[in-house]
Amino acid sequence: MKTTVFAFHPHLNDGSKLNRALAQVAQEAGFEVRDEYQLYPDFKVDVKAEQEALDATDQIVLQFPIYWYQVPPLLKQWFDDVLEYGWAYGSTGNALQGKKLLLAPSFGAQEADYTLDGRFQTTVEEVLKPIETIRFHTGLELMKPFVTTGVLGLTDSAITKQAEAYVARLSEN
Ligand SMILES: Cc1cc2nc3c(=O)[nH]c(=O)nc-3n(C[C@H](O)[C@H](O)[C@H](O)COP(=O)(O)O)c2cc1C
Repeated sequence: MKTTVFAFHPHLNDGSKLNRALAQVAQEAGFEVRDEYQLYPDFKVDVKAEQEALDATDQIVLQFPIYWYQVPPLLKQWFDDVLEYGWAYGSTGNALQGKKLLLAPSFGAQEADYTLDGRFQTTVEEVLKPIETIRFHTGLELMKPFVTTGVLGLTDSAITKQAEAYVARLSEN
């Protein structure tokens, strides 16, 4: 089974700590990692190239930091452009049917902040829900997400540990 990581971080190689570490270990472990912001700095997504990359894989990993309780803007653009009617959904749109979808979001804030009566009065599950709902149009099979919280306070050794856990998750299926 082929797993491909679609990484959406505007500074994957110059500023990111966590997402960079995750992308690096995944690549070293032999997984294809696509640095989407590097591919499309002008947000002009090559729909055909992305659809080909999706066609060629069995497990789609979307790796991204949470920005303002949402996906980064290029990932939103990517959804809008790549998941075309007649390809990803609609009566003839079954290209993603049965493929696995693994979300790998990172949150700067602590897990304790993401409770209904806590600081943000919402949960990690609620934040991810709109993204996960994509499965109903596309037929993607949702995997348990690989979530990192409290990134802003993570030590280097905690990041290394999380990166090891990431590769273990990617290798699971
Ligand atoms: C524009 C922006 C918005 C952010 N919004 C959130 C947010 O809504 N919730 C949160 O927990 N962290 C938020 N963060 C923190 C990022 O999620 C965090 O810096 C990122 O996951 C760390 O990963 P990195 O080391 O790969 O950059 C935000 C950061 C930026 C730059």
